[in-house]
Amino acid sequence: MKTVGAETFDAAGFIQRAVAEIAEQIGHGRAVCGLSGGIDSAVSAVLVHRAIGDRLTCIFVDHGMMRQGEPAEVERVFREQHNINLVMVDAVDRFLGRLKGVADPERKRKIIGEEFIRVFEEEAAKLGPIEFLVQGTIYPDILESAQGHQGVKVKSHHNVGGLPEHVGFSLVEPVKGLYKWQVRLVGEALGLPKSLTRRQPFPGPGLGVRCIGEITREKLDTLRAADAIVRQEMDPIADELGLFQYFAVLPDLKSVGVADGERTYSHLVAVRAVLSPDAVSAKWARIPFDVLERISARITAEVPGVNRVVYDITSKPPATIEWE
Ligand code: XMP
Repeated sequence: MKTVGAETFDAAGFIQRAVAEIAEQIGHGRAVCGLSGGIDSAVSAVLVHRAIGDRLTCIFVDHGMMRQGEPAEVERVFREQHNINLVMVDAVDRFLGRLKGVADPERKRKIIGEEFIRVFEEEAAKLGPIEFLVQGTIYPDILESAQGHQGVKVKSHHNVGGLPEHVGFSLVEPVKGLYKWQVRLVGEALGLPKSLTRRQPFPGPGLGVRCIGEITREKLDTLRAADAIVRQEMDPIADELGLFQYFAVLPDLKSVGVADGERTYSHLVAVRAVLSPDAVSAKWARIPFDVLERISARITAEVPGVNRVVYDITSKPPATIEWE
């Protein structure tokens, strides 16, 4: 039993009830679950696995826009630690092919979302007849869609892994009554690693919305390497400063620099770190200068093709957290 703020939550009791309910809902049927690399789909998958074992198959679509080490971590946790049937789909060429020459943020988001659904449906079809689709819907997702479209749409947010209902499955949504903090506690009780239960929010289109302009393999690799350094340097101070998200962005911009007495003309990396109660508004975080200095020194020394690092000092509003 854990108490957060004024609320108490019994994760072990929840797991017991959820597993019994899932077993009853699915009966002798089979289920498929799309893993996004995030906590909600991970917890849902492990709960369903406890209820129906091998009759669950998970699918992870690697679109090439995950952070460093994430696809390997999914494989390690689900296949090796939890013994869950997992199909890893390397769809990187396919996504990059469809994104070639596309620079508009909304078109990029739409293409990534549509392509994800296509790849998922194709892979699910290969598994033969399956009646149930496991989704990591949580309570705030339900509240958000119940509120409908209010105000101006800033971005077409989508959770890659959030599949349309027309695909003909019955939905299994084991954590739909829970808030994020409760899902984290359930994840911990299920033995999922901290890298997953404490993972910062990460957009469905992934690094695609942090790689400004046209997405190329080379730009993604540069961004991924810079982002890994930002995370390594900020992870140790994240809790103390209450950071909500911290990451690197690759603006589509080169600038002049100098190295070993020679002129360079290379990429700029922007670093973003924000405090936020709920992602609706956010404040840029006062990161200690020595941490920023180390990030800048490491990125320019360790990431080929980057000669300048800047820190984003804009809150939301007027900026959004992500750059696209
Ligand atoms: P913005 O950039 O609008 O982002 O200030 C608010 C929060 O939402 C996350 N985000 C997304 N999450 N699919 C998601 O699941 C998306 O397409 C998406 N776009 C933004 C963002 O990381 C931040 O936490």
